[in-house]
Amino acid sequence: MARSRRPLIAGNWKMNGLRADALALATGVADGVRSAGWSDREVLVCPPATLLAAVAEAVKGSGVLVGGQNCHVNPNGAHTGDISAEMLRDAGVSHVIVGHSERRTDCGETDAIVRAKAEAAWRAGLLPIICIGETLTEREANRTLTVLETQIKGSVPSGATAAKLVVAYEPVWAIGTGKTPTTAEVASAHAHIRRVLDGLMADAGAVRLLYGGSVKGSNAGELLAVGDVDGALVGGASLKADEFLAIAKAA
Ligand code: PGA
Repeated sequence: MARSRRPLIAGNWKMNGLRADALALATGVADGVRSAGWSDREVLVCPPATLLAAVAEAVKGSGVLVGGQNCHVNPNGAHTGDISAEMLRDAGVSHVIVGHSERRTDCGETDAIVRAKAEAAWRAGLLPIICIGETLTEREANRTLTVLETQIKGSVPSGATAAKLVVAYEPVWAIGTGKTPTTAEVASAHAHIRRVLDGLMADAGAVRLLYGGSVKGSNAGELLAVGDVDGALVGGASLKADEFLAIAKAA
């Protein structure tokens, strides 16, 4: 079963990158992926919106995929400052992260909004990466599995199939902190996520579940070896081509 889920290593650049550095990073990743010649894993970079088209152009032909970090729920209209899934697609994008904890916290995105964004991604022909994860308070109160279940049930649209989404488990307390759950904790969360998905869709066994939160070259091997972990969503370590490629190599 695990082998049927092609690992996805996704880099979330967040609000980082001016044109020159970002293009150098994208080119570095593209060169590494091209020379590795991987056909058994996928490598995705998610630059800030201003650089999507330029990065898509820079990695063309390398096999590196390009994703957005967010989208609006509507295809167009009077939404000053927002970007639709259709616009992402038009910029050369194939994936979009929805419901990242930073957006849930900073922008008040609820499960219902995240779900609508995943539907918007489908409408535009994009693959949504739906993010979920518990806070430290929730973990310490032993509520991790309940929180994940609520988030999945609220954020995954009906009509989901394994080909139409990726789920990323990102404990909020592990993001950007250098802290990671134990491999046993990751295994338990991922197994639970798959069980919950199993109640919602026919082919939950084929859904790719990414782990995210302080993944780096030195811990990627052990995190990616956990059963039910089918890739990584990488923040800080995706801003250096060598470090990001080391994670992709570990997949
Ligand atoms: P991090 O971020 O790798 O810097 O912890 C992960 C994420 O937010 O996707």
